[in-house]
Order: sequence, then structure tokens, then C-alpha cells
Amino acid sequence: MAADSSAQQGNAQARVLVASNRGPVSYAKAEDGSLSVKRGGGGLVSGLSAISAESTGGDGGGAVWVCAALGDGDREAARRFAGRLDPADTGGQSVRMLEIPAGDFADAYNGVANSVLWFVNHLLYQTPLEPSFDTEFERQWGAYERYNRAFADALAAEAAENATVMVQDYHLTLVPGLLRRLRPDLRIGHFSHTPWAPPDYYRMLPDAVGAEVLRGILGADRAAFLTRRWAGAFADCCERLLGADVRTDEPTGELLVTLEGRTTRLGVHGLGADAEFLRERANREDVYDRIASLREEIGTGPDGEARRALVRVDRTELSKNIVRGLHAYRRLLDDHPEWRERVVHLALAYPSRQDLAVYRDYMDEVSRVADEINSAYGTDSWTPVVLFLKDDFARSLAAYRLADVALVNPIRDGMNLVAKEVPVVSDEGCALVLSREAGAYEEMGGDALVVNPYDIADTARALHEGLTMEPSERTERTRRLASAATALPPDRWFLDQLHAL
Ligand code: G6P
Repeated sequence: MAADSSAQQGNAQARVLVASNRGPVSYAKAEDGSLSVKRGGGGLVSGLSAISAESTGGDGGGAVWVCAALGDGDREAARRFAGRLDPADTGGQSVRMLEIPAGDFADAYNGVANSVLWFVNHLLYQTPLEPSFDTEFERQWGAYERYNRAFADALAAEAAENATVMVQDYHLTLVPGLLRRLRPDLRIGHFSHTPWAPPDYYRMLPDAVGAEVLRGILGADRAAFLTRRWAGAFADCCERLLGADVRTDEPTGELLVTLEGRTTRLGVHGLGADAEFLRERANREDVYDRIASLREEIGTGPDGEARRALVRVDRTELSKNIVRGLHAYRRLLDDHPEWRERVVHLALAYPSRQDLAVYRDYMDEVSRVADEINSAYGTDSWTPVVLFLKDDFARSLAAYRLADVALVNPIRDGMNLVAKEVPVVSDEGCALVLSREAGAYEEMGGDALVVNPYDIADTARALHEGLTMEPSERTERTRRLASAATALPPDRWFLDQLHAL
């Protein structure tokens, strides 16, 4: 094994490696063949951007981010730059983009990761008809294995001796196990940004596939999750499906999972909001412009007072529960007609995973229900629901700032950063209606108005409670929510994991 590993290693230099499906940049190809680059945002990007001075000894050198080429532009860039992107495009970060064949990528990403592993961990199936694992799935699973192997091979080739590798999410569950076989010298971590399913639901997966995923992650020295609840569910699956031994490490309270003589430690790191970034960004001119136009949309009620703003901001993602959110708003207008003309629901629902028909249909359903509410309740001077379907970060921040009530009601969510971002930038305090199935509930449940996301009446009740909350109480709660939300900012979230490894 040792001889093998040094052969694999070659001239590899990287001391810290991060692997994720989506990288920090993406490329689009113009008709004349030129490539334009776009830098991404989000918790993962800011967390992983912390691979800089501290983690690599000063200059950020020796750290590599390995990601997949997602579309044609990326594939072209991966080819042109022979895998390692131009630092001018990446803000100086060293990024290796893997050119996975387009068919394999689609099967691994859309077929397995987004349509199966995501569905299982978010409990999204309508089980009388799905899932149904047959030859199509077997073919897609083969692609998922090849895609994971491509990552493991690239990491094995890039990593310096005894380097640390941090593998991200459900796209790359098999990488830790594969990589350990190639390079037993490495310290390997895996992080799940999603929830984890309880065993009874998880075992819908074909037995061999379910076991391969668990064993893949157990290839890591440390497997980390956003909350104790998701870590516990993973441990339960290992115990029930693999017969692994699970115990609690007394001094740290962390779970230890032992299978065939090897132990994986389960960590919990609750990613928080990046307050410094958000507050600076939320005070730029484009955000003030959006606030002005949103205020115009919201308008004033019959008494001449500004209407209240009920805000939600999400990817149009099945697990975000946008449709039930609209039903709850309708129920509020029925149960409390005094809110008619006096509140506007701003629903920012941005497109996501539009390659999947079920996501396109869901987006249509969101529009349909919003239109239905507007035709049933709207008047000449009042549009009850204002839906925004085009992604605009400045508008999201503007909506966060002016929200009176924020609705975060996912069916299930790894964390939900919207719940954490709103209180950080809110101008005058905002009541947070929060699903007990969001990871954020673990840290923020105390000051939120907590709901069962399936219960429309309960959600409508919480919306009413939020709208009628005394201003002083709202301010106090928002202050405490903001402090809980920023307890572990992205750079520390990342460095904590690195140190723990
Ligand atoms: C959400 C999840 C992450 C996941 C990401 C992928 O943000 O919380 O766990 O990695 O979606 O989104 P994508 O657009 O790349 O499919």
C-alpha cells in the first residue's frame, strides 16, 4: 500500500484539498468561442475561501479546490487550462476542474445526487409511485461511481504526503472510501450539508447502494454534519444497516462509529451567517434602489399606513415548502380578514435545478397558487402576493432588511441560511416563522415562532403572531437571533473542521 501511495503521489504539492461538485467559478461559452467567467457566492464558497493564510501557512499556496465541470463552458475551460484554472479567473485560488463526460455528469448529478440522494435525505418521495429502482437507476449508479472515482483519482494525484482533504456533500459520498484505499497517508474529512434520513426511510435505497454510501463516508477520519440531529441519523443508519458499533466519546460528546476495526468520528459544525459581508453588502446603493421599489410594490393600506411585509427568499426547491407557505398565507387572510389590504407577501423564489421536470412543475405550481390567491383576494389597489422568479441578490437583501415577518418553513433542510441572514441585516427587527425541521431550529428555535411545516393552520397562526408581535419584543428577539446566527461564521466553520482533522 505504501509503495502504491507514493507512486500515486508523484510531484503533488497540495497540503489542504477541498472537493465539491460545484466549484467557486463557472464559465459560459460565447458564440465566437470566447469564455466568460462568473465567481459564485454562498456559504460553501465563503467557507472554503478561508483556505488562505491560516490554513496553508501564509500565502494560500499548497491549497487546491477540486470541482467538476458542470456545463459546456466549464468543460471547455477544463480542457483549455488542462485542468488547473487560470488564477486570474479564480481570485488567486488554485482550482482544478475535472472534465467528467457530459453523460456521466448528468447521470451522477441529476440522476443520482439530485433525484435520489437529495430526495432520500429530505424525505421528498411520494412513495406510492416512487422511488422505483430499476435498470435506469443501475446505469446512473454506475455513472455516480465513475464520477466519484474521478474525484478520488484527482485528489490522490494532487495531495502532498499526509495532506488533509475535505470532501463535500452528497455528490461525493464514495470519495472518502475510494481515496483512503489510494492514499492511506491522508487525513480525510467529509461534510454533509444536507439533513440525513432516519434508517426506515434511508433503507428505501437498494441495500447495496445504501451500504456503499455509508461505507464511502465512513472512509473518512471525520464525517461532519450541520446539526446533532443529522449526525445522529447517520449513526443510526450505520448501526442498523451495517451493524456498526456506535458510542459517544465522553469528553467531547461526539459520536464514534466503528466498522471493521476502523473508527470514524462524527463532528457537528453549524454553519453561521457571515455578518461582516452581509452588513457591508446590504448597505450598497443597489440594495437601497431595491428597497425603494419594493416599498412601492408593498404600498399603503386603507388607513394610509405602510402595509406589513411578509417575506420569503428561497431557491424554488421542493424541500423549501413554498406552496404550503402560500396556502398558509391564504389561510391567514381567511382567519384574519383584518389583514386584507394591510399585508403583502413578497415571495422571492429563484429558479433551481431546472433540468429536472419535477422542479419545473413545482415552479409552475408556485406561480399558479400565487395567481389564484391574487385573483381571489386582490383588489384594484392591493396585490396580496408579489412573486419574484428571477435571482437578484441585491433584492434578496433589500427584502431581508424591510421584512416584518420572514417565513422559513422547509419540510426539511440541512441548515437554512436565510433564517440566519434575515436577523443579521433586518432594519427594524423581524419576526421569524421557522420550521422545526430546519437545521437552524436547533440554534434559533428559542426566539423564532416555530411551526410544523405540514400544518397550514399552525403556520397561519404563527404568521398572525409574527404580524402582531410588539415592536420591542420583535427587536429583542431579532437581536438574540442575530447573535445565534453568527456564532460560527463561514471562515471559522471551515477552520474548525480543518483543526479537528
Ligand atoms: C444546497 C445544499 C447543498 C448543495 C447545494 C447544491 O445549497 O444545501 O448541500 O451542495 O444546494 O446546489 P446545486 O445548485 O449545486 O445543485
